[in-house]
Amino acid sequence: MDVVWWEAASSGRPAAIGYVDQRRLPHDVVRSRAETVDEIVDAIAGLGVRGAPAIGVFGGYGIALARMLHADADEFTRAVARIRSARPTAVNLAWAVDRVVASASETYLDQALAIQEEQRAVDRAMGAYGAELMPLAGAVLTHCNTGPLATAGYGTALGVIIAAHERGRKLHVYVDETRPLLQGARLTTFELARAGVPATLIADGAAAATMRAKNVRAVIVGADRIATNGDTANKIGTFGVAVAAAHLGIPFYIAAPRSTIDFSLRDGSGIHIEERDGAEVRAYGGAPVAPHDIPVYNPAFDVTPGRLIAGIVTEYGVARPPYDESIPDLATRPPFGALLAAKRA
Ligand code: MRU
Repeated sequence: MDVVWWEAASSGRPAAIGYVDQRRLPHDVVRSRAETVDEIVDAIAGLGVRGAPAIGVFGGYGIALARMLHADADEFTRAVARIRSARPTAVNLAWAVDRVVASASETYLDQALAIQEEQRAVDRAMGAYGAELMPLAGAVLTHCNTGPLATAGYGTALGVIIAAHERGRKLHVYVDETRPLLQGARLTTFELARAGVPATLIADGAAAATMRAKNVRAVIVGADRIATNGDTANKIGTFGVAVAAAHLGIPFYIAAPRSTIDFSLRDGSGIHIEERDGAEVRAYGGAPVAPHDIPVYNPAFDVTPGRLIAGIVTEYGVARPPYDESIPDLATRPPFGALLAAKRA
């Protein structure tokens, strides 16, 4: 299933970015179109398209569309700024926007297409490296959604799990529901079912007890921004899962492409954590469950200290502690696109 794609203008319809609206999953697979900058920003901020690499891919196409819509230089600059800041935590969005804008490409479209093509190859590489970290058989646990929906490719952490399954490892995945927006319950279960990977849904509060009761052998999650000491921002609840895993002696892994690393940050204290509307917490699956005026604190992400992370799976291999050596080393590697081009030649 394509998650994000470019739609050229045809038969009177303007050019657009096509996307599967993730707010409607798993019950309805709705293909939507973003035709304006407002619609691009709404789709990202409203989580119609979500997951760090996927919003990067979408944002890249967004710049190509903004270029077509806004011939005026000031208007285009404003559009770029709006798309770039539609969500603040996942560095992939700003990374992709900056890459497209800095490219020599006239329409920006070929650069946006290249980002998505590379994402697929990057995801395949992470899957191959990460599969080796998974047990030959047994339970693993994941949080949020990190599959094809979250990257517009094959996925990060869920891509690793699916790759391990495809290589014959007999995994059973425990899926945190991921309150408040239920990315685990709605999206991860949907993607695991499509991939034929056995899975069981649990309430977020059951994660620690499940790790102990079900002999979970490894935890693997994605990331939205990683500092050079390994501190990792990911979906709210990840930090608690990492603490429980450390207490139980279970290895806790991150899978994320190099584009999720913020090489300008020495630690996680500088990561901007998005806070979302309290209405998301006062409701469950859209149905109100709390007094309408109860104050709410709703951070969308938290930061897991690098010292709780056993390894970070990237397209270049698995980075291991000490991260303040292994992560800066990743900055020195050639662009993955160049490696792909060399392989093809
Ligand atoms: O708010 P979301 O659903 O965009 O948050 C997504 C996550 O936290 C993912 O774990 C992260 O982006 C990695 S996606 C491959």
